[in-house]
Amino acid sequence: MPPVRVRAVRRADLPEVIALDATVTGLHKADYWQRVYRRYGVGGQGLRHFLVATAGARVVGFVIGEVRDWEFGSPPCGWVFAIDVDPQARQQGVGTLLLSAMRQRFERVGVRTLRTMLASDNHLILSFFRSQGLRAGRLIPLELEVGAPS
Ligand SMILES: CC(C)(COP(=O)(O)OP(=O)(O)OC[C@H]1O[C@@H](n2cnc3c(N)ncnc32)[C@H](O)[C@@H]1OP(=O)(O)O)[C@@H](O)C(=O)NCCC(=O)NCCS
Repeated sequence: MPPVRVRAVRRADLPEVIALDATVTGLHKADYWQRVYRRYGVGGQGLRHFLVATAGARVVGFVIGEVRDWEFGSPPCGWVFAIDVDPQARQQGVGTLLLSAMRQRFERVGVRTLRTMLASDNHLILSFFRSQGLRAGRLIPLELEVGAPS
């Protein structure tokens, strides 16, 4: 694989991002990705980031994150919402490069905690985040099914 670089997403990257997401989720969500691009790709003001990893001209991964203040009583922290690496480019350090680039952007604005959420049965992503130093935190998610007749 050619050397990997991480940079901010461009509109022209979206078809590759959409295709990459579809390989992981099985869903082709073009409208969703246009909205994500508008919110995180161009309107970030230093607090929202949508980064891609490229190898030559090819997009081989992406990460999306945002600094959020005082939610859940927490000082500003950096949330990572999504990270995906092309299955052909995995286990070569691309995920590590993407997360590290996001972490640097969080640190630049004084953030001291990086957070994410993951499905408890997704062992791959859990293994990756653990390799990056993430551990179970103080907050726990709670859920309620709504909208169904009770
Ligand atoms: C998780 C993911 C981002 C990792 O990307 P990657 O480029 O392969 O990661 P790296 O090469 O930087 O690996 C870093 C570490 O993660 C762990 N890791 C990565 N792939 C692994 C695997 N298949 N099995 C176990 N551990 C793994 C290892 O500890 C690895 O360190 P090592 O290479 O020293 O063993 C990638 O596998 C992926 O996109 N998976 C699907 C994403 C997904 O499910 N997203 C949904 C939630 S947003």
